[in-house]
Amino acid sequence: MAFGFASYNFLICALLVLQCGYSISARMTIERRMYLEEEIDDDLINITNPKPSYNVWFTPKDLYKGFTKPVYFEKEDPAKMPYFLSKEEADAIPFAIPELDNILARFSISRNSPQGKAIAYTIYNCDLHPTGHMIASCVSSLESMLDLVQKSYGPNTNFDLYTSVIHHSENTPLLQNYTFLDTPYQIPTQKMIACHPMPYPYAIFYCHGHLDGSTKVYKIPLGGEYGDRVEAIAVCHADTSGWDKDHISFKMLHMKPGSGPVCHVIPQNNFVWIPTISVQ
Ligand SMILES: *[C@@H]1O[C@H](CO)[C@@H](O)[C@H](O)[C@H]1NC(C)=O
Ligand SMILES: *[C@@H]1O[C@H](CO)[C@@H](O)[C@H](O)[C@H]1NC(C)=O
Repeated sequence: MAFGFASYNFLICALLVLQCGYSISARMTIERRMYLEEEIDDDLINITNPKPSYNVWFTPKDLYKGFTKPVYFEKEDPAKMPYFLSKEEADAIPFAIPELDNILARFSISRNSPQGKAIAYTIYNCDLHPTGHMIASCVSSLESMLDLVQKSYGPNTNFDLYTSVIHHSENTPLLQNYTFLDTPYQIPTQKMIACHPMPYPYAIFYCHGHLDGSTKVYKIPLGGEYGDRVEAIAVCHADTSGWDKDHISFKMLHMKPGSGPVCHVIPQNNFVWIPTISVQ
């Protein structure tokens, strides 16, 4: 089996995962935190030198027609789609912290290369212990993703996929000012599960969900200053009191844990699953 390393935006996934992993990071041991900080945080978050892709955050007070802010969207590129294995193939490959060296050897990736760090990052961040009614799990195939969603919503619930649809023109910058072309539409749901691609040689998605209405999902038509159009999906998290105080969203928005809800657009190749809304 030949593998190409999925090269979609590591930073964006990482940012969203760290954000979403609040109840996880609270449980992380000191050792693991140090490990992660040493291994990847240098590459990740330097707010004095913000990367274009940090520009995904906003707050609910921005949810009005005419609001304009710089937003970063990768270009739609099928080559950047995570490479999905079948469930059988994926289940046959080890995926666990004690197997890290074997996994690196299997893909001929050295521990200190960017890919090696990314693999370690993904494996460590996928060691999840969700609490309460939060769903958090990494899945290694589309089947497993659908199973997780079905299991979370119950066997008799249908669900739909929501994702940002990006229409980039040729040669327009990935970071540009976008204007909300219409009043954001709140999708009427109490339940959502979002799945974010993780950096890995094949598709691994970090899925997390909220079934208590605490995460609101919006559809927002965006118009870019260079004529690009995005049918964006965005989510707003009501309660950030458990998030890491150093989380990027707080730095970008000048906020603190628990100081108010924060929102972000959903980048390309990220999936939001919502129970089917019956039209009366
Ligand atoms: C962050 O970026 C600034 C400006 O490029 C640089 O001077 C600084 O050393 C960086 N900080 C870290 C912790 O990498
Ligand atoms: C967005 O617009 C503001 C105000 O006109 C401008 O200062 C800023 O440079 C623009 N940002 C981008 C990324 O184009």
